Amino acid sequence: MYMEHKHHGKSSASFLNADEILNELNFKGNETFMDAGCGDGYIAIKAIDSYLPDGNVYAVDSYNESIKNLNDYKKENNIENLVNIEADLSKEIPDVEDASVDVVLMLNVFHGFRDNCDDVILELKRIIKDDGKIAIMDFKPVEMQIGPPLDVKIPSSIVEEQFNSHGLKKVYLNEEIGAEIPGGKSHYMIIFEKE
Ligand SMILES: C[S@@+](CC[C@H](N)C(=O)[O-])C[C@H]1O[C@@H](n2cnc3c(N)ncnc32)[C@H](O)[C@@H]1O
Repeated sequence: MYMEHKHHGKSSASFLNADEILNELNFKGNETFMDAGCGDGYIAIKAIDSYLPDGNVYAVDSYNESIKNLNDYKKENNIENLVNIEADLSKEIPDVEDASVDVVLMLNVFHGFRDNCDDVILELKRIIKDDGKIAIMDFKPVEMQIGPPLDVKIPSSIVEEQFNSHGLKKVYLNEEIGAEIPGGKSHYMIIFEKE
């Protein structure tokens, strides 16, 4: 049974395009962004390099090795506006204040929170600003070569219900994004704001 995440160290970089994803988020350039469940941080790094010259980026993951590598990268490249945090997203994320983040992205992470998705949603709701956004991008529940087993994939309609139950409303849905698969694209992106 698929009880918890076993995806430590996995990255979507080989099959998802960071620009396609980050373009969905309509950055102005000075936002505070969190890559929640960042893995190797390829999205966080692309965001710093190309989208947020005057912004700040948090890269958060529970896997110590990923955060260690990102801290090395930060040091080697002298990047001041990247903050790497080792934390469990279903608990309080340390050093991130209430209502301080403009945009949170969870890329291929949310499907892993079967039993504790409420805790994650509440924690993300705590950290976003009143007009902040939470973007969930995940695998469509169809057979494909990539991603977790079919019964672990979670449809956007269920994600929407879960966020709605915590006072977060859908403001955007793209159901054709990601890698090419037979019949369309591999992913959806759904974005929420506080009601
Ligand atoms: C499939 S990987 C996706 C990584 C990255 N977002 C990407 O798309 O390349 C899932 C990531 O979520 C992290 N993760 C799983 N459970 C977590 C939790 N409770 N708190 C923080 N990170 C978690 C894993 O360590 C892993 O890096």
